[in-house]
Amino acid sequence: MGDVMLDFEDTIARDQRIEPRDPMPEAYRKTMIRQIAQHAHSEIIGMQPEGEWITRAPTLRRKAILLAKVQDEAGHGLYLYSAAETLGADRGDLTTRLIEGRQKYSSIFNYPTLTFADVGVIGWLVDGAAICNQVPLCRSSYGPYGRAMIRICKEESFHQRQGYELLMTMMRGTDVQREMVQDAVNRWWWPSLMMFGPPDGDSPNTAQSMAWKIKRHTNDELRQRFVDMSVPQAVSLGVTLPDPALRWNEERGHHDFGTPDWDELKRVISGDGPMNAARITRRRQAHEDGAWVRAAAAAHARKKAS
Ligand code: 3HC
Repeated sequence: MGDVMLDFEDTIARDQRIEPRDPMPEAYRKTMIRQIAQHAHSEIIGMQPEGEWITRAPTLRRKAILLAKVQDEAGHGLYLYSAAETLGADRGDLTTRLIEGRQKYSSIFNYPTLTFADVGVIGWLVDGAAICNQVPLCRSSYGPYGRAMIRICKEESFHQRQGYELLMTMMRGTDVQREMVQDAVNRWWWPSLMMFGPPDGDSPNTAQSMAWKIKRHTNDELRQRFVDMSVPQAVSLGVTLPDPALRWNEERGHHDFGTPDWDELKRVISGDGPMNAARITRRRQAHEDGAWVRAAAAAHARKKAS
């Protein structure tokens, strides 16, 4: 192994950051671009499910909160595309790969948002799962990625809290509102568990990502952490999590829970989810609508540079 790679391995072993100008194995660069790009795509596509409720929010307060949250997601996407660019990726190329289906985004955003309770449940469960997954990523070995996570995690905490507060309000409302919340929990619980990826035994990337300290915990470890965090929150909220196998295991010191439908995850990842086509069609349209802005900005930059 060359000296260059010895430096890389030594930096990782000493729990230090790999920075953009540091020497790194091509495979490290590739997997970092893969994960960061898909994370960025997820943030941008993730604006759609809740964005559809901005015009239908029940009060001005809820509309303002939702506007702020969706705007945050756009910002998360931009930080992450910028982090990918420090590895030599091109943001336009990454967007083309997303639109052409050559790069992924999180399966969770391929489910429909049927009522306003979905906005609360997405905040509570989806952003809650994001926090479980992203807090360890603040210590990811790639510097720009870990640093982007610090601000993103602060904003995710607001997202999770506003969703939970929305649900608490609805649960103190009418029977119909309580039924809306339970229905949303029933539809979003299992897809939220799938956000953490396939089981460790079926994960082609986890072992290497753990060795390179990109990931600090495995998919199953973080999924378990999310379940253990969510159960007491569900009890306080007064909702039932739709898993008959869910129970506290004193011996393990964790909750036992049922097995997500991994075939469903494979289908949704492969593009066969309820909303995949709609999400990509919307993303393609937005990219086309923005072409004139990109052209104008590029012309302005050229004029300034001349
Ligand atoms: N949806 C779509 N694709 C998924 C997936 C999911 N829920 N879970 C796994 N995959 C893909 C992986 O990308 C990988 O495919 P690839 O090799 O072509 O990239 C394949 O399935 C096998 O999965 P692995 O576990 O081997 O892949 P990873 O080691 O990359 O782990 C991950 C998957 C846990 C999602 C990891 O990539 C990760 O932590 N990414 C950063 C966080 C992220 O992207 N979260 C997505 C949601 S963003 C969000 O929550 C925004 C918030 O505001 C709501």
